[in-house]
Amino acid sequence: MRYINNELEGKNILITGGAGFIGSALAFYFQENHPKANIYVLDCFRNDETFPSGNLKSLGHFKNLMGFKGHTICENINNTQAMSRLFEKIKFDYVFHQAAISDTTVLNQEIVMQTNHDNFLHLLELTQKQGGVMIYASSAGTYGNSPAPNRIGEGEVPENVYGFSKLCMDESVRSILKSNPQAPIIGMRFFNVYGAREFYKSKTASMILQLSLQAMHNKKVRLFKYGEQKRDFVYIEDVVQANVLAMEAKKGGIYNVGSGKARCFNDIVERIKHHLGEFEVEYIDNPYTFYQNHTEADISLTIKDLGYSPRFELEQGIDDYMPEIRAIYAREKKCF
Ligand SMILES: NC(=O)c1ccc[n+]([C@@H]2O[C@H](COP(=O)([O-])OP(=O)(O)OC[C@H]3O[C@@H](n4cnc5c(N)ncnc54)[C@H](O)[C@@H]3O)[C@@H](O)[C@H]2O)c1
Repeated sequence: MRYINNELEGKNILITGGAGFIGSALAFYFQENHPKANIYVLDCFRNDETFPSGNLKSLGHFKNLMGFKGHTICENINNTQAMSRLFEKIKFDYVFHQAAISDTTVLNQEIVMQTNHDNFLHLLELTQKQGGVMIYASSAGTYGNSPAPNRIGEGEVPENVYGFSKLCMDESVRSILKSNPQAPIIGMRFFNVYGAREFYKSKTASMILQLSLQAMHNKKVRLFKYGEQKRDFVYIEDVVQANVLAMEAKKGGIYNVGSGKARCFNDIVERIKHHLGEFEVEYIDNPYTFYQNHTEADISLTIKDLGYSPRFELEQGIDDYMPEIRAIYAREKKCF
């Protein structure tokens, strides 16, 4: 489904973090719906480096780009010289900035701040110099455990350095927009995104994928007691929609991107059972001192300013995703 009329013929679109979950979804959206645009995907891809938690330092995977016919650039956004050289060579009309340390459990504050915040500012400067539009990934992590519904400008109290780095991005953008409200910079505070091409996020993939795979493999899933914690789960198609609509935003701004409804983990289990049949649910103690108990995006501004209209309730999103999850299980069975 195409969300804007503009053909984008001859336009140069850069997607950082394009070998990741959301970035690759954007790349395929443009390939399918705007074939006359020039699409550039930039990602450092994964290597062998891990954080002390054992999680990989970057999660991009070439398999997310199988079938992508645009330009692929293997680069690290922390290499500021290389990024500057890229922008000297190519004038980008739109930059979708998804590259980040997306793992919210990373404790190394220096690397998170450098990658997520500082080098975003560098990229923003390069984009602004060229007169391009910057659409970047912020996060619901900016709200920490503040009471829901989460509204832009309220309760912005992140609980970890990941959320803090995203809030710093937003604050830097706010200070630019204060003096120049028309500046084409749009921040997207994604809530809990799920859908195709998230498999390579492993332990940081959505609970929809993780619980489905556990159920298929073990006939049992584990939830923190008692599965009533609520999240705003948003399907990847709706996230793509919001990003694309932001290309035609009349002014800069920061927007929540969610379904607008909080649902609990037991709801996910119910819908998975609808597809897979009965399985056991084991409720275990939650070891985390910090855990978001209720997130819910207030999307009124996103609807008003961008014309955003989420199409997928949790049940519809899971229904749409389930054939892909079954295919992942069949393909990757030996990994579990
Ligand atoms: N998925 C979600 O639920 C969610 C929620 C809120 C915010 N976000 C944000 O959305 C963006 C995309 O998230 P995602 O779920 O697709 O995560 P992802 O980890 O799949 O994608 C991020 C990509 O960035 C790449 N990357 C990381 N560091 C890089 C660097 N230094 N240089 C170049 N590339 C680098 C990774 O290789 C990866 O492909 C991120 O900024 C994330 O913080 C995601």
